[in-house]
Amino acid sequence: MLGHTAAMLRRPLRFLSALPAYGEVVKIYLGPLPVYMVTSPELAMRLLAADADNYDKGIVFDKMRPLFGNGLATSNGEFNKRQRRLVLPAFHRTRIASYAETTMTTLAAESISGWKAGQEVAVDEHMQNLVLSIAGRTLFATELGQDVLDEIQRCVPDLLDNVLVRAFSPKFVERLPIPGNRRFDAAAARLREVIPRVVLAARAVLDAGAETDHGDLVSMLLLARDEETGEGMTDEQVHDEVVTILTTGAETTAVALAWFFHEIAQQPEIEHRFHAEIDQVLAGRVATFADLPRLEYTQRLVNEILRRNPPLILMRRSRTDVTLGGITIPAGTEVAVSQHTLHRDPRWFPDPDRFDPDRWLPARAEKLPRGAFIPFGAGARLCPGHLFAQTEIAVVAATIAARWRLVPVPGAKVKPRLAATMQPNRLPMTVVPRH
Ligand code: HEM
Repeated sequence: MLGHTAAMLRRPLRFLSALPAYGEVVKIYLGPLPVYMVTSPELAMRLLAADADNYDKGIVFDKMRPLFGNGLATSNGEFNKRQRRLVLPAFHRTRIASYAETTMTTLAAESISGWKAGQEVAVDEHMQNLVLSIAGRTLFATELGQDVLDEIQRCVPDLLDNVLVRAFSPKFVERLPIPGNRRFDAAAARLREVIPRVVLAARAVLDAGAETDHGDLVSMLLLARDEETGEGMTDEQVHDEVVTILTTGAETTAVALAWFFHEIAQQPEIEHRFHAEIDQVLAGRVATFADLPRLEYTQRLVNEILRRNPPLILMRRSRTDVTLGGITIPAGTEVAVSQHTLHRDPRWFPDPDRFDPDRWLPARAEKLPRGAFIPFGAGARLCPGHLFAQTEIAVVAATIAARWRLVPVPGAKVKPRLAATMQPNRLPMTVVPRH
């Protein structure tokens, strides 16, 4: 009945990093479902990039379709390619530079403006709220946006907490009247109710004669036209993309920021180098997109955080019979790769459990094989939000750390807990002014 699900859900990191010992392609069972796990960078790139057209997204995304509709993450084939063409301009670097200045730094600074020296802050919750409000402000420019944002802030954590367990459980589990299911269903229903209101409001602004977008994502999506066909998206499609972006982008980034402050607080020398860099580069002003190339150590820290705390698993389903690592896999089979397996492989990352930002010094990083480090996936389905996320983590971390040190609360046991990613079970920290 359960296959390897219990081992996977109970001790995911141990389970996933043990896989390479069994070969380049390892068959496991998630519930009754056989899944072929690829464990080498080369096969990961075959699966995600070179042979991508041989695969659809697979079971996790099937289970998410009632929530995500037919958005970027759940759709397949030609339709997905068209949607990518329409959505990607909203994530262009010039847009991200402007989100960094107008939204990321402003909201990060606002979020800490009430902190008092010695106060204890739940850093995990703080980051989740901050990241969701950045996502919301980026998505919606209309007044109505703020109410919806509050609602989203309440709903998204309930969805993400339950998404993975749901995906790996047999169908009947979804219908059990247990608290996790009730919270998931209620949150999904609330989102389906509130998001259309924002889409309609943005549509009304455009219909009233505004010919350009207001810099917010929703109006960009409404105005986007396919260069080949001239067609745009229906309101329903825009709705699906908004839900997709909110749910795929929020937890991943918030969790990375929470781990960021946890990790640097464990190692004074690393924290000191980080503080020295932001003091020198920013000299008291807020971070902008243009500062990022000079925040070299900060970027190495971000990479090391993403190496250690990526999403758990990327799943696909074969559309035809495929051969991977000499093994023939029939059409309709689930095939997956876990970034935890690749990112903790000592062949590419010596002493993999050690937090070492200097692995990302260019001379060392350029020796990594392609596919060894894929926090954002690879190939045709590479995360469209990757630059947004990398910018957000660096800019928010620099803005907060320019003013405050976050110090662990003595005795607080911080452990990874499985939700849609591995997030801290709790992360209380005490805030201490730096200057
Ligand atoms: C640290 C933060 C993030 C991480 C680690 C991350 C990781 C990923 C990964 C691994 C995928 C590929 C899934 C696959 O191949 O099956 C993905 C897809 C996606 N991500 Fe991100 N992501 C992050 C932040 C964001 C942000 C901020 C946004 C939007 C603002 C975003 C939007 C999306 C979307 C829409 C997809 C679906 C793409 C597709 O299936 O074609 N992500 N993300």
